[in-house]
Amino acid sequence: MQHRILLVGSGGREHALAWKLLQSPLCDHLVAAPGNPGIEALGRGKGPGAGKVTLAPVGAEAVADLLALAERERIDFVVCGPEAALAKGLGDAFAKQGIAFFGPSQAAAEIEGSKKFAKDLMKRAGVPTAAYGSFNDFAAAEAFIDGQPGDVVVKADGLCAGKGVVVANSHKEAKAAARAMLLDRSFGEAGAAVVIEERLFGRECSMMALCDGERFVLLATAEDHKAVFDGDHGPNTGGMGAYSPSPLVDAALTERIARTIFAPTVAAMATMGRPFRGLLYGGLMLTPERGPMVIEWNCRFGDPETQAVLPRMQDDLLPWLLAAAQGKLPAGSPTWSPGIAVCVVLAAAGYPGKVRSGDPIDGLAEDGQLPGEGTDLVVFHAGTKREGQRLLTSGGRVLGVTAQGADLDMARARAYAGIDRIGWRGMHFRKDIGLRGRT
Ligand code: AMP
Ligand code: GLY
Repeated sequence: MQHRILLVGSGGREHALAWKLLQSPLCDHLVAAPGNPGIEALGRGKGPGAGKVTLAPVGAEAVADLLALAERERIDFVVCGPEAALAKGLGDAFAKQGIAFFGPSQAAAEIEGSKKFAKDLMKRAGVPTAAYGSFNDFAAAEAFIDGQPGDVVVKADGLCAGKGVVVANSHKEAKAAARAMLLDRSFGEAGAAVVIEERLFGRECSMMALCDGERFVLLATAEDHKAVFDGDHGPNTGGMGAYSPSPLVDAALTERIARTIFAPTVAAMATMGRPFRGLLYGGLMLTPERGPMVIEWNCRFGDPETQAVLPRMQDDLLPWLLAAAQGKLPAGSPTWSPGIAVCVVLAAAGYPGKVRSGDPIDGLAEDGQLPGEGTDLVVFHAGTKREGQRLLTSGGRVLGVTAQGADLDMARARAYAGIDRIGWRGMHFRKDIGLRGRT
């Protein structure tokens, strides 16, 4: 059967999903809401998406408008990128209409939407994670911090677009963070409760899995680069680049992560009556003494990880997503290209703070890609807009440039050679994406 797909979201992650889904012979048409100029361009030219893409100016959180759009466009499968729409119950709304939906229900999305929920679940299920307490009273939070032998991390309970975490270097700093969240409401209601946990040390790795409520299939690993500047300096961002696979995770460690982390989490969600269908993404800390531990759960594809992982996927993505959504994941796993993919994010002036928008982007052809390149160098659009013939910046993370190569150095060289041909006023990016993969 051919499918008419609604893809919800507008970032680099969604461009990567659209790019991959349009390669499927089972994709009849893809409507992106609201999409971006990079996704729109997949529908032009001679690529596999030619004539198959429509953009609809509907926001990711406009549930009623998305339902109406799906009906108008005769959509039979919905893929949702952003967590906020999932937390608002977009999946439940489509389930009511009898339309297949890739993404968790509102109840299951709480694994990302409430850090306290996720920590309590892991504690009950015996999943390795940092010791913690959760509080809505500042005096109790302060007393807990005083009682900790080492450094702690303070996290706002609710969704904060990746900004509600303070890795404190002293108890004084931790208390100031708890005070700001609980008393000053620096993150609004998302900080009405906080989780305070032991600080873990090690290398971080992103592990994503397709889940069908009972079973799960791990995707290829990736490592994100969260800090804005080279050498992991400066404030955290949504992610300045990623590479896949992580050289730290061999077959034995993958098996251990599946057995000790994903299996008990997926089973616990099902037992609670909140079966997880969709993409479950674990931010893991690979600790030298205690092995892999969960730092956080996300209920959607990682960004930019997805921009590095999907180009390596050799299978057709669409049947995998459909099977997960329908509760029918088959045995086996997807196959991955043996090389390395490196995605470097190009950000606008000011990111991750207040960004400047509207700067003309140089170097890209009309299809939003670098002229003369093949599928081993793809430019994913995240924060761009079209104004007549011109492509302008429109957001913090503007583009993700993903290159594949036989090894890390080749992939990095390709990505950065591509980036040399792109520019706008104030563009900045990290020069060291993937370098840690050498160690
Ligand atoms: P999150 O928003 O939960 O992904 O956290 C942002 C970043 O904070 C993570 O990627 C880690 O680098 C760091 N972090 C969160 N929790 C811990 C922890 N328990 N120990 C050390 N670092 C942490
Ligand atoms: N790259 C981090 C995230 O998607 O949450």
